[in-house]
Amino acid sequence: MNTRLVRVVRALGGSASSNHTETEFLMTTPRTVLVTGGNRGIGYAIAQQFAADGHRVAVTARSGSGPEGTMTVQAEMTDSASIDAAFTAVEAELGPVEVVVANAGITRDTLLMRMSEDDFTSVIDTNLGGTFRVVKRASKGMLKARFGRIILISSVVGLYGSAGQVNYAASKSGLVGFARSLTRELGARGITTNVVAPGFVETDMTAVLPEAQQQEYRRSIPLARFGSVDDITGAVSFLAGDHAGYISGAVIPVDGGLGMGH
Ligand SMILES: NC(=O)c1ccc[n+]([C@@H]2O[C@H](COP(=O)([O-])OP(=O)(O)OC[C@H]3O[C@@H](n4cnc5c(N)ncnc54)[C@H](OP(=O)(O)O)[C@@H]3O)[C@@H](O)[C@H]2O)c1
Repeated sequence: MNTRLVRVVRALGGSASSNHTETEFLMTTPRTVLVTGGNRGIGYAIAQQFAADGHRVAVTARSGSGPEGTMTVQAEMTDSASIDAAFTAVEAELGPVEVVVANAGITRDTLLMRMSEDDFTSVIDTNLGGTFRVVKRASKGMLKARFGRIILISSVVGLYGSAGQVNYAASKSGLVGFARSLTRELGARGITTNVVAPGFVETDMTAVLPEAQQQEYRRSIPLARFGSVDDITGAVSFLAGDHAGYISGAVIPVDGGLGMGH
């Protein structure tokens, strides 16, 4: 029984062997999980949660490393060979990857008239191209196992739009078409593909935004606060878990109500 489950059972006043409905809901099969960009921000928190839940967790990083208890492998999202090498190392150490979270991403914000072709293509190549490379590599093992959970980290901006982010929004809305097409390709093989669309989350990525812009965003969020990385991990864990086996092609907003209806 994993540590989180034991903690929850105790909180419910039961013993670790008791048969509560709540315990059944939280019970998960230990899986091999790979999170891209797990050395900081949202990816780090996702990896930390999976490790705390008793899964075998690896993260990709270009610098630094993932949380304690996880394996760190180097990978550059724009380079298929480095992604292939990262998967090979993880498979050798932890077994075939059963859950992949495509989280690594960048922004290069500026208005269209000032946006260079490199601003556009580098964001598309990292966010959308990187996801393609990672998921394609992950799908090999998943097809063999006839099981897989693919979770793509998009953004509220992908469907809501945002001035100064045509590159980023295009890369993030592309993930929705990607997930839905993949659901149609691989769904019958026991592989689900879903999208989590965070709103404004406090990380390095958003810390660089000017204070006035942060205030403006805060005013537009119905829940009247920015998200924390821990707000995102629950949706990702759920989609990876035993109880999400019939959910695929979905976009789960975790945005304090910012993008409702989008
Ligand atoms: N923060 C938000 O408000 C927010 C909202 C919606 C969606 N998201 C999405 O959530 C994801 C994580 O965001 P975050 O806020 O945690 O960002 P972050 O703190 O800036 O971290 C980005 C992560 O992506 C990795 N990465 C970037 N480019 C890479 C590349 N070419 N190859 C390999 N790794 C690369 C970074 O690795 P290095 O440390 O090596 O650079 C880092 O681990 C992103 O996809 C982002 O678009 C964030």
